[in-house]
Amino acid sequence: MQKRDFIDTNTYTKEEIQYMIDLGIAIKASINEGYYPQLLKNRSLGMIFEQSSTRTRTSAEAAMTELGGHAQYLAPGQIQLGGHETIEDTSHVLGNIVDIIGARVERHETVTEVGKFAKVPVVNFMSDYNHPTQELGDIITMSEHLPAGKQLSDCKIVFVGDATQVCVSTMFMATKMGMDFVQFGPKGFQIKPEELAIGQQNASVSGGSVLVTDNADEALTDADFIYTDVWYGLYESELPKDERMHIFYPKYQVNADLVAKASDHVKFLHCLPATRGEEVTDEVIDSDYSLVWEEAGNRKTAMRAIFTYLLNPLMKHATTQEVEQFQSKLDALLTHQVG
Ligand code: CP
Repeated sequence: MQKRDFIDTNTYTKEEIQYMIDLGIAIKASINEGYYPQLLKNRSLGMIFEQSSTRTRTSAEAAMTELGGHAQYLAPGQIQLGGHETIEDTSHVLGNIVDIIGARVERHETVTEVGKFAKVPVVNFMSDYNHPTQELGDIITMSEHLPAGKQLSDCKIVFVGDATQVCVSTMFMATKMGMDFVQFGPKGFQIKPEELAIGQQNASVSGGSVLVTDNADEALTDADFIYTDVWYGLYESELPKDERMHIFYPKYQVNADLVAKASDHVKFLHCLPATRGEEVTDEVIDSDYSLVWEEAGNRKTAMRAIFTYLLNPLMKHATTQEVEQFQSKLDALLTHQVG
């Protein structure tokens, strides 16, 4: 069985994503009732983080622990990556020590290189291009909060603001699953043509749609879900905060007036961390239609599903006969006195 990476959801079919959604929800239901299936018993996850993280780190580590495995946090400055050792060499080494690797990286090329050289599955914990574990957690959250009588493929999601990697990822996932995706954002901060082409290709297969607009009414009408992300602080090369604030505020703030343009049953999502009072107001993020805390919790639902999906087909399980043979060999060695 060949290893697979989870670096870009566009390398997965709609059916595979639906399987991971179902798997995540089934594992969550089991754990919520007190049964922790040991699907990843004794397996190790190595987590490379070039940037800080609250949700991604804790959800990955908790997911491994709950399913019987273990995670190691490989912080900047604590491993050799970026020092004497190349990405290629580090990837070979980790692939011979741990069973699966997660990597949050500054540049997307870094995680693709880890995937190329590590012999174990590699999970993208966010790059400057996309955030696939967030995507899966978000689609699970939406699946759990569908409007009455609607399926995912009947729903419209509007991403408000900058075309961050989370915006692009939301488009990838929504269009893969047949949803109608809209980015409501200012010119110059809209999804790049080459990324939009991927969303359009997904939509042509799934029956979904993609729209990019700076017209609020066109964007928000009939929206089932509204999503936003921060306006600054993600990329070194971006404009200064004051200039970015001037571009996005107040038109692209998710506040009660903007939400009123959407459907009556609209739900609010945010990948977090949020800058309250900027891209979203307190009254929206703390509202009864806000899903942000459940969404954060579903980062763990997604991690459990991704790790299980990638690792399970690769896991060897010794037969009863093999266990007896290995144990008897070990017993002989352990009872043998050396010297
Ligand atoms: N949304 C998200 O990825 O959060 P962290 O940066 O805290 O992991």
